Amino acid sequence: MIRAFGGAKALVHYGGGSAVRSGLLERVCASLSEAGVDYVTLGGVVPNPRLSKVREGIALGRAEGVDFLLAVGGGSVLDSAKAIAYGLANEGDVWDFYSRKRVPSACLPVGTVLTLAATGSEMSNSSVITNEEGWLKRGLSSSYGYCRFALLDPALTLSMPMEQTMSGCTDILMHALERFFTREAQGELIDEMTYALMRTVIRHTRRLHHDLSDLDSRAQIMWASEAAHNGMCGDRTLGDWASHQLEHELSGMFDVAHGAGLAALWPSWARYVCSSGTARFAALARNLFDIRMPDDEACAYAGIDAMEALFREIGMPVRIHELGITLSDEQIDLLARKCSYDHSRTIGKIKALDEEDMKNIYRQAR
Ligand code: NZQ
Ligand code: ZN
Repeated sequence: MIRAFGGAKALVHYGGGSAVRSGLLERVCASLSEAGVDYVTLGGVVPNPRLSKVREGIALGRAEGVDFLLAVGGGSVLDSAKAIAYGLANEGDVWDFYSRKRVPSACLPVGTVLTLAATGSEMSNSSVITNEEGWLKRGLSSSYGYCRFALLDPALTLSMPMEQTMSGCTDILMHALERFFTREAQGELIDEMTYALMRTVIRHTRRLHHDLSDLDSRAQIMWASEAAHNGMCGDRTLGDWASHQLEHELSGMFDVAHGAGLAALWPSWARYVCSSGTARFAALARNLFDIRMPDDEACAYAGIDAMEALFREIGMPVRIHELGITLSDEQIDLLARKCSYDHSRTIGKIKALDEEDMKNIYRQAR
């Protein structure tokens, strides 16, 4: 497959060791050798992948004449591979693209053997990198950022421990939710597909919470992670994404698992903005949790309670302190300053949130 996309020498990128322990990396390398594809390896990607590793990959890729990136791991490994691919295909500092100073005009081809169902990066045009200088976590979305192929074998996800599995399931649910909270009507079909996707994710998340070795549920969740983030459930750019923006600052500064960070923030975000989108929240409550209250407002808040209860049920935090972080007022100010890009932007579609709103939500979630 790498050859079919013009690759002659691949950089095989992996994480902290799970792909080594499972024997997957060895199998991948053997398969490359068998296919006559030259390769070099670079491991050590950490969750919330770092810019320094990206720079290391770019230097290695240049020295070795790499023309293809193969990510073997989860979303962090894949996002790091995408960043290296941007760095190798463009002149100058790759961080410029993430800090929005410049836009990329090319990217080396990227493929992945995925070991974790969560981010949907294998189907999205996004990549999220953390710069250790200032602990800024920034996303880059561009039409060059799609994978050429993604090999999805749910059996590879069986070794994921409980917390990581539940965190991944939460992220998938949130990708559908972020798109659902839009001001632009995307049509009945998109809404109905979104409800079906979310119900399926909830059902199989519960099954996995009971039994991590349920291969059918692993497969349903993996498939859902694609559908949640590939545009089938609504255009990404029309969605709300405030919870994601708030969370990226949290995981950038405190290195928490992305899905867990989302669970810790979402209930507070939802209650903060609910009155600006009552009908949408009520529709979610009725279609997802079968809440039958005739009054929209009561129904909307009951739906938020139900989502929070679901997060609790699967062991996710629903407040920031449950992540083991005690936020000071100064830290909240800093999170909001970073999230507002130094007082220069608002976030969110259901309700546009300025820096003060961001502080209020962090405070309520604390
Ligand atoms: O490093 P290894 O040893 O591989 O361990 C990883 C890591 O510790 C482990 N793991 C992966 N597959 C495993 C496994 N452990 C046992 N068995 C397996 N089969 O899981 C840990 C977490 O991995 P990571 O890749 O960090 O998780 P995830 O896939 O949730 O990726 C999270 C990152 O993606 C970003 C997040 O912000 C975060 O930085 N996102 C990327 C998006 C995108 N590109 O479209 C969208 C998302 O909203 C998100 O922001
Ligand atoms: Zn996410």
